[in-house]
Amino acid sequence: MEEKQREGLMEENRLFFPPNEFSSKAIIQNPEIYELGQDREMFWSEQGKRLDWFKPWDTVLEWNPPFAKWYAGGKLNAAYNCLDRHLKGARRNKAALIFEGELGERRVLTYQDLYREVAQFANVLKSYGVEKGDRVAIYMPMIPEAVIAMLACARLGAPHNVVFGGFSYEALRDRILDSQAKVVVTSDGSYRRGNIIPLKENVDQALRSVTWVEKVIVVQRTGQPVEMQVGRDAWYHEVIKNASMVCPAEPMDADDMLFILYTSGTTGKPKGIVHTVGGYMVGVSTTHEWVFDLKEEDVYWCTADVGWITGHSYLVYGPLSNGATVLMYEGAPDFPEKDRYWEIIEKYGVSILYTAPTAIRSFMKWGESHPLGRDLSSLRLLGSVGEPINPEAWMWYYKHIGGERCPIVDTWWQTETGMIMMTPVPGITPMKPGSCTTPFPGVHLEVVNHGGEPVQKGEGGYLVVREPWPAMFKTVYGDNKRYEDTYWGQFPGVYFTGDEAKWDDDGYFWVIGRVDDVINVSGHRIGTAEVEGALVDHPAVAEAACVGRVHEIKGQAVFAFVSLKEGVVIHDQLIADLKAHVALKIGSLARPDDIFLTDELPKTRSGKIMRRLLKDIAEGRALGDTSTLADAAVVNFLKRNLKDQK
Ligand code: PRX
Repeated sequence: MEEKQREGLMEENRLFFPPNEFSSKAIIQNPEIYELGQDREMFWSEQGKRLDWFKPWDTVLEWNPPFAKWYAGGKLNAAYNCLDRHLKGARRNKAALIFEGELGERRVLTYQDLYREVAQFANVLKSYGVEKGDRVAIYMPMIPEAVIAMLACARLGAPHNVVFGGFSYEALRDRILDSQAKVVVTSDGSYRRGNIIPLKENVDQALRSVTWVEKVIVVQRTGQPVEMQVGRDAWYHEVIKNASMVCPAEPMDADDMLFILYTSGTTGKPKGIVHTVGGYMVGVSTTHEWVFDLKEEDVYWCTADVGWITGHSYLVYGPLSNGATVLMYEGAPDFPEKDRYWEIIEKYGVSILYTAPTAIRSFMKWGESHPLGRDLSSLRLLGSVGEPINPEAWMWYYKHIGGERCPIVDTWWQTETGMIMMTPVPGITPMKPGSCTTPFPGVHLEVVNHGGEPVQKGEGGYLVVREPWPAMFKTVYGDNKRYEDTYWGQFPGVYFTGDEAKWDDDGYFWVIGRVDDVINVSGHRIGTAEVEGALVDHPAVAEAACVGRVHEIKGQAVFAFVSLKEGVVIHDQLIADLKAHVALKIGSLARPDDIFLTDELPKTRSGKIMRRLLKDIAEGRALGDTSTLADAAVVNFLKRNLKDQK
């Protein structure tokens, strides 16, 4: 966010009330829901009933800080809740997934269709020895088979580890290694703006150093020739053909693992965030229904990729557990034209759109003519997620996409929280552009100062969660200590989000951004340590430090300061080479926008890189306190030369 916009955000005081037309028909119309949420256990016990349980829970919450067991003693299955239970009534033949391919093809799967294919694929996995507890890696484009693979794993109780299709083979390999996945599900390739990204080739490279993966199942999507390793690799369409359609859903303990999803943190290695079946499913199902005011006839579109938590919670588990019709789009928003989203909304009569501020800012830049040329009257609710939305983008979204009749739910949450934590409840909560308003009923968030004390209204500080919530992650995969230290160590007994926020005079929350070494690029978390590791891996680089700088469209962009090894000759291609190296090591989303070469990095006398100073330099601000610097000349050098190199 631009500095100007950030300031604007804090001064924003306009209140927008939910339009009558909307609130009079909303699922939640009574503001007392917030009071009901105060009795947390009672509230979540009530919500637990929305799922089908094979065995009811004994205790709604067992809390041994920082370890929680929600719905302890209960048994259920996530896939059963997303599929089987909808087959009994009218939803059986309702569209569950409407798929729009990048090239324009359309595929509709009813709940019955999805149920059948999930059961078949679960049987395929079973035939390859996948059992309850085995991990399965999924590295796929945004196609129905990605959802089918996830639900098939859930049906067997085999935790999936979905790896975003834009990640490099090295990132994929690290995630396969850490999760010790037994089987990989992928496709020959994925489409991106008409080009083909060779996913299968990446899998082959990733598996060169992994010995234990027994099977790779390949969906045919892009059709280019790929190498199939005899004995290990199998085509999805061939193995599914004769698979049985009967596959009982595994009764899982509420506290069993549903999936692992890796996310960036402050240290180099991404963390495997573990989510459980019971609490997660109750959390995403409740929030999905209430936040999106889901009605039976809605066409709900979440633009997030299944490789991120938003795709898990609000493209798959939340909406399907609620029997929604989910639109899934494979491609880019500007392919073939910049009105592709609006064309899709017009074509399918989408009524709920959930997207990210970075996309909204691109649409703003492309201009109103694109949405104006399409009929968007089917829309009745808009959502935003992933980063702070600046009031200007909020207003544009409200006016040009929502026609001033659709509430906007600005939803704050994280991979770790699993479910939306702060948001307007659209029929009852007045909105302020740029604020995610207040915590969801039954969720308790606070802004605290350095000492962990709650701040007064009008003040800012660190965003923490004081009480456990149902979709909270269980641990960091294989590393309980990291879970305790990273998240619960900063302020003992409370969960630290890593975010800075302000609590305004009306009690509304304004999330400002990360205070740790995480950069939020287009709503995606990138650890500075990961990018630095990738840069240092290049033979020319001695040392690197990265910061996030404001970016008009992406929110933040990676700005890297690099010092080269002695004797390295600087050539014209060097900067481009370094950027390409990061893309190769992590994926193109981590590619630095700027690389600045310097002989030295500014460090404290104890040798710590002063990132705050680098951030000031990258964003062209007056420098803060430089008194702890070991060598002030370094900063003067950086400032003097920055303009020349850019
Ligand atoms: O900094 C916050 C920002 O995204 C971070 C979580 O990133 P991730 O785990 O990748 O999950 C993104 C999708 C849920 C948060 O710590 N963030 C997310 N939503 C918002 C947000 N910042 C401000 N407003 C939001 N609505």
